[in-house]
Amino acid sequence: MSETKTQGSGAATVDAPGENTVEVTFLPEGKTVTFEHGKLPYKDHGKEESLLDVALNFGVHLDHACGGNCACTTCHIWVKEGAELISEMDDDEADKLDMAADLQLNSRLGCQAVINKPGKVVVEIPAWNRNYVSETH
Ligand code: FES
Repeated sequence: MSETKTQGSGAATVDAPGENTVEVTFLPEGKTVTFEHGKLPYKDHGKEESLLDVALNFGVHLDHACGGNCACTTCHIWVKEGAELISEMDDDEADKLDMAADLQLNSRLGCQAVINKPGKVVVEIPAWNRNYVSETH
């Protein structure tokens, strides 16, 4: 019993979930969030639709001591999957990352790494960053 859908020419269909969907999983918490690419409300920190912006939108704690201005390393994350969907690193970000603890090949600054395409991204927040969580006073 298949359902046939007629699509008028030129009519945009929004039926297919996933087509323009971004899915981001934050490890080690394992929290997965989804949103439509390009439609994320901006939370005023970091670049729009950056991984920091995503975290702030969904209540995932990602430290951002400089307010997302590429001036610290507290938003350091490791991109485990979906790096090809994320903006390339510029020199400023690379310079800052050089000072980050636990630097890895997949290290990025969450406030500078912007999701450019829909798809699946998995990032890990380093333990030393997560440990900042409890004292925000
Ligand atoms: S929040 Fe400071 S560099 Fe990203």
